Amino acid sequence: MKELLLIVLAYLIGSIPTSVWVSRRFFGIDIRDYGSGNAGATNTYRVLGSKWGTFVMIVDMLKGVVATSLYIFLPRYAGMEHELWRTNFMLGLGLASVLGHIFPIWANFKGGKGVATLFGMAVAIQPVVALCCTGVFLLVLFLTRFVSLSSILASVSFAVFILFIFNEKEPLYRVFAVAVALMVVLTHQKNINRLLKGTESKVPILKYRDR
Ligand code: G3P
Repeated sequence: MKELLLIVLAYLIGSIPTSVWVSRRFFGIDIRDYGSGNAGATNTYRVLGSKWGTFVMIVDMLKGVVATSLYIFLPRYAGMEHELWRTNFMLGLGLASVLGHIFPIWANFKGGKGVATLFGMAVAIQPVVALCCTGVFLLVLFLTRFVSLSSILASVSFAVFILFIFNEKEPLYRVFAVAVALMVVLTHQKNINRLLKGTESKVPILKYRDR
């Protein structure tokens, strides 16, 4: 029962629509009516500038870290003998927060694409893999300046790292890794279409005074 309550709490934390609230509170607009229409850090960066984009990215990432760490309220998962249960429960909490981010109850169920919250979840569960994925993200971003492509390839690399490089044996983990890659590809359908048509916007290189 407590598990279920914590899963709901994780969903509610993930549902905090950072970019929507920031755009409404400080700019009197709804971020979803501008730029790519996505309620995420990249679009906030694009529409409202780097400071707010960074703020949204950090908060959205922290939602994943905090929600995934809610397991600490169940002391029975603290012992080593419950390590597998704890990891599986963390996966459930993290996924609930990512679903909250994509379908936020506080913003008409129209949220972002889940990448920053997913990254926060990965940091809480698999920090080394998360670091490797950050490397992939930054490399693709450096080479192409497409945030969407960087997000997609970083998520796919998450599955590749878990399945083939770190050779994770736990079946639920393997399913989760593949599900994450699929989910990010699905939430980026419009971006993929734009990438194929050559109309996807690149992240602007900021002039010094804009930073
Ligand atoms: O994390 C979202 C990013 O990959 C794409 O955002 O606004 O360009 O659709 P956007």
